[in-house]
Amino acid sequence: MTQSLTIRRPDDWHLHLRDGAMLQGVLPETARHFGRAIIMPNLVPPVVTATDAAAYRARIMAALPAGMAFVPLMTLYLTETTDPADVAAAHASGLITAVKLYPAGATTNSASGVRNFENVRSVLERMAEIGLPLCMHGEVTTADVDIFDREAVFIDTVLDPLRRSIPGLRIIMEHITTSQGVDYVKSNAKDLGATITTHHLIINRNHILVGGIKPHYYCLPVAKREEHRLALRAAATSGDARFFLGTDSAPHIDALKEHACGCAGCFTATNTMSCLAEVFEQDGALDRLEGFASLNGPAFYGLEPNTDTITLTKGDAVLYPARIDTGAGPVTVFDPGFPLHWHVS
Ligand code: DOR
Ligand code: ZN
Repeated sequence: MTQSLTIRRPDDWHLHLRDGAMLQGVLPETARHFGRAIIMPNLVPPVVTATDAAAYRARIMAALPAGMAFVPLMTLYLTETTDPADVAAAHASGLITAVKLYPAGATTNSASGVRNFENVRSVLERMAEIGLPLCMHGEVTTADVDIFDREAVFIDTVLDPLRRSIPGLRIIMEHITTSQGVDYVKSNAKDLGATITTHHLIINRNHILVGGIKPHYYCLPVAKREEHRLALRAAATSGDARFFLGTDSAPHIDALKEHACGCAGCFTATNTMSCLAEVFEQDGALDRLEGFASLNGPAFYGLEPNTDTITLTKGDAVLYPARIDTGAGPVTVFDPGFPLHWHVS
């Protein structure tokens, strides 16, 4: 039995770092294990222009503790007034790695997102021309669609028509949560990838709702039925290079999670690699963890994998903190519900 596994240093292809005291508190949790991360732009106000992204990047680098190495891969938040020329210039200068599309109202700080896709067509066409990928939060937001169906309806009514009308646009379906998401990616050979979070490989909707409501398991897209979790597990552990890790680690202070109107987000930065090692071991796929966490993402983005490595070693249960203290307040670390035996060094 494998007791030690050395893999290329992983990257996180979907991460929320926030700003200010929260950024300061959570950044080391990611930088400890990960080389790079795609940084979500849903700040208040959002990171919309190249100027915003440059300033945010500088704040992230200033928050990085001395001696830690980490490369933030910046994104712009797509709005209906985004200027295609600003996006193209930000890409050409190497400042941004992707553009993020939130349907308006889909999740935390998405009010400036897209209502009418026709209003962003010129930006998306330009992105297709210059090869700049689009990170897509794939949920419809209309009140008539059940929250558990939002992803599947989005694929049929928005994503598929959009991809047909803008051929060549490279899209990452972020944090897929359904078998329909898995199947859609698999049925498309080119230009489409998907990130899968750590928590969606571990929890289903029962974990949120059975035996009392568990706010720290509430995120968006919300976890679905067990059959969907199993489809995500099969995709992540399959070795198919179109699926890669994007933790969507999304810190909110405990007071706002344990609340009558609790925020969406699971904070997984601290223990993700130990959780994933456990998941891949349970599924007899430890040899595919490196592909999922360290190789498939860079390949999709046209980047080289990290050159250095991490080592996962199996031993006594690792004692991760139940919560971390940030200057903004305490943030609860995702509880996978099983002991973690894989130490990361
Ligand atoms: O659970 C989530 N939290 N899903 C998202 O899409 C956004 C994120 C956040 O920013 O808190
Ligand atoms: Zn997110």
